[in-house]
Amino acid sequence: MNEDRKGILLAGGTGTRLYPLTATMSKQLVAVYNKPMIYYSLSTMMLAGVREILLISTPRDLSAYQDLLGSGDRFGIEFSYAEQSEPRGIAEAFIIGERFLGSQSSMLVLGDNLFYGRMDFLRTASADTGDDAIIFGYEVADPSSYGVVHFDETWRATKLEEKPENASSRWAVPGLYFYPPGVTDEARQLDPSGRGELEITDLNTRYLKAGRLKVVPMGRGIAWFDTGTPTALLEAANFIEAIEKRQGLIIGSPEEISLAQGFVSSQQFLKHVRLLPASDYRTYLERLVP
Ligand code: G1P
Repeated sequence: MNEDRKGILLAGGTGTRLYPLTATMSKQLVAVYNKPMIYYSLSTMMLAGVREILLISTPRDLSAYQDLLGSGDRFGIEFSYAEQSEPRGIAEAFIIGERFLGSQSSMLVLGDNLFYGRMDFLRTASADTGDDAIIFGYEVADPSSYGVVHFDETWRATKLEEKPENASSRWAVPGLYFYPPGVTDEARQLDPSGRGELEITDLNTRYLKAGRLKVVPMGRGIAWFDTGTPTALLEAANFIEAIEKRQGLIIGSPEEISLAQGFVSSQQFLKHVRLLPASDYRTYLERLVP
């Protein structure tokens, strides 16, 4: 595990496609079945072994995340918080996070992305201490609302595009990215796109052109949802409900993951869990420690 890798969790944006759900609430706090959306992306980051996390949100919403997640102590991790004052793009996160990142490698997860399945690929990417950026490809029926990657016959990535209208590739790029030290300098070189944003796809294209981008195709057996529209949100919620009910497990619990990853001891875990309100969530967690 690369213990030094730092994480940026991006919970910004205006969430217009989910209006009126987002009229007074941050998109990434909206429920996906039985927990706030941000729990899933946070879980992904914790499963990658990342314990120092900068959460970035809007000036309106940042305090809600501080209320929800606090210092991170109870999950055995450490949160910092920063504002993105205007929606100036995903890649701006690395400029906002410059001091937080220092000279460390990093991982970025978009707060509206949800992953489920065998997470070995995460640990492998996270443990990589090389000089390349690592992103993923995920086959979807309609890639037009995503970043898209093109591969040649040897599975080498040849081109990246942001939300192409008629893409000849079905490989979308999920909101999960790993970078070597120095990503802030790369982000500073970007020009705003037509929509006035520093595009994550442009940042990744810089690495691609420099021969420093690994694009790992995610195999079958991993579920990826982006929860930015009402339909996508409902589909993700139905998926989580189906698996949780069938298995009697909870997906996306930072408390459970903190215990499983050894970020907290059983005693620390129980101390926190006993303070939670009486709920199915608490009952489930209490059963994890015999
Ligand atoms: C963003 C990125 C896009 C990526 C997607 C994943 O799009 O720009 O490249 O595929 O996240 O969720 P957005 O959802 O912000 O429009």
